[in-house]
Amino acid sequence: STIYLSDYRVPEFLIDSTSLSFELGEASSIVRSVLELRRNPESDIQDAPLQLHGTELELISLAIDGRRLGDDEWSQSGEQLTIANVPASFSLRCETRIRPQDNTSLEGLYKSSGMFCTQCEAEGFRKITYYLDRPDVMSVFTVEIIADQSRYPVLLSNGNLVATEQLPDGLHKTVWQDPFPKPAYLFALVAGKLSVVEDQFVTLSGRSVDLKIYVEEKDLDKCDHAMLSLKNAMRWDEEVYGREYDLDIFNIVAVDDFNMGAMENKSLNIFNTSCVLAKPETTTDAGFQRVEGVVAHEYFHNWSGNRVTCRDWFQLSLKEGFTVFRDAEFSSDMGSPTVKRVEDVTLLRTAQFAEDAGPMAHPIRPDSFIEISNFYTVTVYEKGAEVVRMIHTLLGPELFRKGSDLYFERHDGQAVTCEDFVLAMEDASGIDLKQFRNWYSQAGTPRLDISGRYDAQAQSYTLTVKQSCPATPGQAEKAPFHIPLALALIGEAGQLPLQLVDAEPNTETADNTELVLSVRQSEQSFVFSNIQEEPVPSLLRGFSAPVKLDFDYSRDQLLRLMRSDSDGFCRWDASQQLGLAEIKRAITAIAAGQEVCPDVEYINACRELLGDTSLDAAMVALMLQLPSEAYLAEIIHPVDVHGIHHAREALRKVLATALREELSACYSRCESDEEYAANAEQIARRSLKNTALSLLMLLNEEQFTALAIKQFENSGNMTDRLAALTYLVNSESNYKAKALQLFYQQWQHEPLVINQWFQVQAMCRLAGTLETVQGLMSHPAFDIRNPNKVRALIGAFCGQNGVNFHREDGAGYRFLADQVLVLNRSNPQIASRLLVPLTKWRKYLPAAQQLMRAELQRVLAEPELSSDVYEVVSKSLQDY
Ligand code: ARG
Ligand code: ZN
Repeated sequence: STIYLSDYRVPEFLIDSTSLSFELGEASSIVRSVLELRRNPESDIQDAPLQLHGTELELISLAIDGRRLGDDEWSQSGEQLTIANVPASFSLRCETRIRPQDNTSLEGLYKSSGMFCTQCEAEGFRKITYYLDRPDVMSVFTVEIIADQSRYPVLLSNGNLVATEQLPDGLHKTVWQDPFPKPAYLFALVAGKLSVVEDQFVTLSGRSVDLKIYVEEKDLDKCDHAMLSLKNAMRWDEEVYGREYDLDIFNIVAVDDFNMGAMENKSLNIFNTSCVLAKPETTTDAGFQRVEGVVAHEYFHNWSGNRVTCRDWFQLSLKEGFTVFRDAEFSSDMGSPTVKRVEDVTLLRTAQFAEDAGPMAHPIRPDSFIEISNFYTVTVYEKGAEVVRMIHTLLGPELFRKGSDLYFERHDGQAVTCEDFVLAMEDASGIDLKQFRNWYSQAGTPRLDISGRYDAQAQSYTLTVKQSCPATPGQAEKAPFHIPLALALIGEAGQLPLQLVDAEPNTETADNTELVLSVRQSEQSFVFSNIQEEPVPSLLRGFSAPVKLDFDYSRDQLLRLMRSDSDGFCRWDASQQLGLAEIKRAITAIAAGQEVCPDVEYINACRELLGDTSLDAAMVALMLQLPSEAYLAEIIHPVDVHGIHHAREALRKVLATALREELSACYSRCESDEEYAANAEQIARRSLKNTALSLLMLLNEEQFTALAIKQFENSGNMTDRLAALTYLVNSESNYKAKALQLFYQQWQHEPLVINQWFQVQAMCRLAGTLETVQGLMSHPAFDIRNPNKVRALIGAFCGQNGVNFHREDGAGYRFLADQVLVLNRSNPQIASRLLVPLTKWRKYLPAAQQLMRAELQRVLAEPELSSDVYEVVSKSLQDY
């Protein structure tokens, strides 16, 4: 059944305090709760029965104010427990039995490699005990945990440790108290045999905080990077947002089986091991950056999420969009800002644009859902972050900070809405965001069609901007968006000073050569005066809005931007537009049976990049990479997966041939034997070196294969080893089986490394990969109950290996549907996420469409579909 935002009502009851007692056992666990409830004075309904959420619980007893309830005093239907007659305020005592050992959904209380842990967001708490499991019911929690001392020496929950006690029969007990009222989704419990790495942080006002990272003993050597990232994040939030930590303890726990990346439970963050553990020998540069980003993200939630939380789950982007924006700015400050921006834009323009164009398209604040777990999406998170970034751009950094200060001050301790956030920004800045709110309510990727006209006589340059937005499910017509368009005009000698006729820009640079236009109408012109030469416009600088931009650049204009734009994003994007044009020409050439021969000017520009040692190596690497197949699938319609793949590969090979010497010299120049550090400079060098090697490998020459083998065998860090392994696996080299075997032997005791081993094989572009993947499903190291393994093998194959997933016989589609049906029973959240590639069926060629649809229909016909899978599969088959 569908839930609507417009049906929101304040809760009929409030829970002033919550006491929980857990008796953790091997077969089952007992949960006893005491809830101090009272009617909500703000509710219109003062005689409502008490309705609590609960699912998969065995109810043992219920009592109100000490009196046990008879069976006729309560009733149960679906997820609802109803107690008809309750006083205005009372104490409810409840005892339930649960079976964490059998909980494969990884939601609620479950076991992961011998340890008990919880995941309650969004609606997992109802699998622990009966409760008002909604984020606008906030309560002060006291938690008692009783468990076997030798199996579970560490017992953790939120807040402060207030008591520990030895009990008879080898049991022990701890009691935790969290002084901050919180919704149930922020509750957490951990019990297990864990080792700990400890450090301290002293806040700006002098509070000394104990920082602890709990891991399995074998992982103690992989915590340094997370700890450093945590301390950097704590300092950064003080400096940039004025936000200090508010308790004496901050705990992080790493667990192997986890549906998502991590969870911001108050003072007890629980992490997927993949987002906390890192060391150079086992973790790639991307892995190090992910740890830094996720540790910061969860820490930042302490303010943007916990101190100020969401009124209801439609407001999810309130905390996630804002927190992703915050962690992106943090990562940008810690590393290379342009590279971080390009990476984020790439994710947005592939995954998020695809979501916006697909059957599950939704605004960053959805207005209905069947299963909230399906809305932890790139739209809510990443597009949500872009919306906050646009507010930042429109207000400028100082007013934005005033706005965030006001937001935290006004709403500390409250559960609020996206509207409250925007209002605080408006009130603090005096800037009108009325039309801007359309970003919260309208789905779809807006399109900007821009044209430029130079009038030599009048010495003026006119930009005409048209905006439109395609229809999405349930939204045929869209009102115009308020779009911040950052731009500069580039002349022969650099950026021109800008004088806008009859219009107020929002912000401009000190030297007056960059400004942000507010585009508000469906068609609008902007005239610049005193322009003495025909300029090349540098548009959407820094990717100032999440839109598709169309400007009819000539090749020479793009070359000028690629060579000299001072905006890193636009410079990179010009290289991508040139690459896109070459790929389109290659597609046409191959279809006509002709050779692929790229424009010499394009090749020369790439040659210049490789030779220019003054450039950031990471930027060179990014600019040398042609637009990904995933991005091309958002641009070229209908998508001919195989045609695109072959054209792109052919073009890469021609480039490699033409630039053979430069690539080879570049590789040698980037080699180094310095000690590994995950800093921007080293990461850049490794990235360029491996980009060069990947191109050289296409030449199929023995000397380059030998280079890859040497890199695979000799390098001490996982970035270089895994890159070499990837190129070998995708080559014709007969060393690849040996490489895979050596790698497995060396790392078989490191699950996170074995995941990378699965992933490299699942992503191999060569024919026969589906059979390899099917074979690996019965490998002893594979476990379909572990989400990281599922993502590494099945997820990577179906989501990141276009040519093999889209095999013309449909075997890839059938494989995915089979796996979804298996996971539908054990872990619905993972099942519905895995299904996503099939739901995009409408954009492919007719033959593929038919095969994909047939598999979706087979899934839909399954009698016992979870709400998660049902929502995705049924919506993907609906017409819109
Ligand atoms: N709040 C967590 C984060 O973004 C993610 C929780 C995801 N939970 C879920 N059921 N999908 O940091
Ligand atoms: Zn988050």
